[in-house]
Amino acid sequence: MSALYDLLTRQVQSLLIGNHRWVTDLANVAACLYHGLPSLNWIGFYLLSGDELWLGPFQGKPACTVIPVGKGVCGTAVQKREAICVLDVHDFPGHIACDPASRSELVVPLLKGGEVLGVIDADSPLVGRFGPEDVEGMRRIADILVQRVAWE
Ligand code: SME
Repeated sequence: MSALYDLLTRQVQSLLIGNHRWVTDLANVAACLYHGLPSLNWIGFYLLSGDELWLGPFQGKPACTVIPVGKGVCGTAVQKREAICVLDVHDFPGHIACDPASRSELVVPLLKGGEVLGVIDADSPLVGRFGPEDVEGMRRIADILVQRVAWE
């Protein structure tokens, strides 16, 4: 994993020390990642409720509030239970444009055993912003959150 994700992983682990509520932890982690990762215009969480993803803590402009499973990049990542790295959102059929400035996107599901809790969604105004290091690093952060956050 890159030195940057190594640092971010340690920062996230520090933020999760103590007894917090899930909303508190996810809010701080969104802020940590937004300010720690270069060239993002949005990063945050969508949390699964039934067959819909609901907007959770994030940093960036106001975003779409509900995304059905199977729709957009987020809903597709949940359906497939795998990370999706989109080099150019204009090439992803069904991409949901919350902010027209977003040009590339990385969505990593939060998987607890076989259960999907939600996703981490990162957007960038740069085409091709995210690559294998981001997928690996963000998956590592997702795994820490799944284990350490007090999910209800
Ligand atoms: N682009 C996402 C929607 C969420 S926003 O990017 C914040 C999608 O296609 O699922």
